[in-house]
Amino acid sequence: MKLQNNSYLQQVSDQESEILLGLAQQSLVFDGNLVELGCYRGDTSLLLAKMLVREKSAKKLWIYDSFEGLPEKTTFDNSVAGEAFQAGELYVSKREVVERFKRAGLPLPVIRKGFFENLADSDLPEKICFAFLDGDLYESIKTSLRLVESRMSDGGVIIIHDYNNPELPGSTRAVDEWLLAHKNKRLTVRETLAIIH
Ligand SMILES: C[S@@+](CC[C@H](N)C(=O)[O-])C[C@H]1O[C@@H](n2cnc3c(N)ncnc32)[C@H](O)[C@@H]1O
Repeated sequence: MKLQNNSYLQQVSDQESEILLGLAQQSLVFDGNLVELGCYRGDTSLLLAKMLVREKSAKKLWIYDSFEGLPEKTTFDNSVAGEAFQAGELYVSKREVVERFKRAGLPLPVIRKGFFENLADSDLPEKICFAFLDGDLYESIKTSLRLVESRMSDGGVIIIHDYNNPELPGSTRAVDEWLLAHKNKRLTVRETLAIIH
């Protein structure tokens, strides 16, 4: 995390946003829609939605959040961050995200409110070309990977934030465990993005 201005914390750095947008744009040639699990205030969601408009793409963006903040950490999330990332942190309302899209004059994405662990099959698109997983914690990333893995189209990309971020070791652990079970998948790391093809 880094301070963007005095009003709130930017979750994804400018370099990471650029990488994400490039990969999202490349994924448009493949089957399926785009998803972001852990949208918070919608900063990255807005960038993705703008890109879809710019590219005149018919694809849909689906975004997900508890809109109740983070769930409880597990021991795998204990780190140099100490008391940070407590349950309820990063709270934002769904209405706030909807308002931001309206103010930006962008089409509303499909927005699903709820903890990832409680999402139903029908809450996700059948096919996914681009998945951005940004739930910070071990269980959240593990669940997100489980939810998207069977829906990824050939050529599609999964990107997990906070890989190798010492403050959020649960994210790295969840990715490494998943990769061990999916040996045909290829990992590239850029900044704190784990990019899986
Ligand atoms: C780091 S923020 C996401 C930042 C956002 N991707 C961006 O680019 O601005 C993490 C978000 O994930 C959500 N989250 C984490 N674990 C979750 C879970 N298990 N179910 C639902 N939402 C979760 C939190 O509520 C929080 O809003």
